[in-house]
Amino acid sequence: MRAVILVNAYIRAPGMIRQAERIAEELRLRGAEVSIEKNGDFCTYVHENAITSSKNCDFVVYLDKDKYLPRMLEKCGLRLFNSARAVELCDDKMLTFIELSGRGLNLPDTLPAPLCYYPDARVREDILRTAEERLGLPLVVKKSYGSWGEGVRLVRTHEELLQTAEEFKTCPHLFQRRVGIPGEDWRILAVGGRAVACMKRKNERDFRSNIEAGGRGIAAEPPAGFVAAAEKCAAVLGLDYCGVDLLDEGGVPYVCEVNSNALFNEAERVTGNNVAGAFAEHMLHCMGA
Ligand SMILES: Nc1ncnc2c1ncn2[C@@H]1O[C@H](COP(=O)(O)OP(=O)(O)O)[C@@H](O)[C@H]1O
Ligand SMILES: [Mg+2]
Repeated sequence: MRAVILVNAYIRAPGMIRQAERIAEELRLRGAEVSIEKNGDFCTYVHENAITSSKNCDFVVYLDKDKYLPRMLEKCGLRLFNSARAVELCDDKMLTFIELSGRGLNLPDTLPAPLCYYPDARVREDILRTAEERLGLPLVVKKSYGSWGEGVRLVRTHEELLQTAEEFKTCPHLFQRRVGIPGEDWRILAVGGRAVACMKRKNERDFRSNIEAGGRGIAAEPPAGFVAAAEKCAAVLGLDYCGVDLLDEGGVPYVCEVNSNALFNEAERVTGNNVAGAFAEHMLHCMGA
């Protein structure tokens, strides 16, 4: 069985490099041939009215978020972990919520901000007033695309809301009700729709619990219902592997976001669970190996 692990052409963060290496290690332990490759080599492109690919492998572990390449690879018949659809749904936080809605999951009330195409236009006050009325203050403003807590803001006053909305106005973003305990969330990693590692994340200095924003992982068992909520997210979005962020509002799990390429280094360290091993096992099982 031959696998290609595809990472971003500009990969820099040590955590992302380590993630690819850990998956490669666990796949090799199970007899697979593996190479880690960067996108941008143009092995797959539109050529003579069709998609052509010279990627020579049985499956692809897709660790980037770019949405074009996975679509092209699938069109050439390759099995991707995660699928193009799942990557797309997770990459856009609003699209994730649209897909998860109506499935019995708890989602914080969320309003997609209308896009503004003119950098010189002023954000409309009436839009902000409606957001404030529906969600209350403080509320969360979030870029639809982003990770590691970058592009996620807590605004406490109308002035802060105006300032952030002005800053974000030309990129897709949303307004969301603030829920849970500031600086705390649950990160649940799921493989093949089953939770394989859970940790609490806590940040004493910031309302964002991301490890990259100064949060730390703590080994702990989530309250009942949290694991089921995470597994449901994975199933609805069709994810082979994911990290689900859940906020705890009085013991009730609220979905914060779902990551198709969640880093598992901290979760493996904190829980001692072999997340990469479970992922490798799942992929080889799906491929009939
Ligand atoms: N609606 C919210 N209420 C309270 N805290 C939130 C909310 N949305 C995000 N956060 C906090 O900010 C962190 C980052 O937000 P998230 O949506 O997961 O974006 P990112 O992709 O940057 O991780 C979350 O882990 C959580 O701690
Ligand atoms: Mg997150």
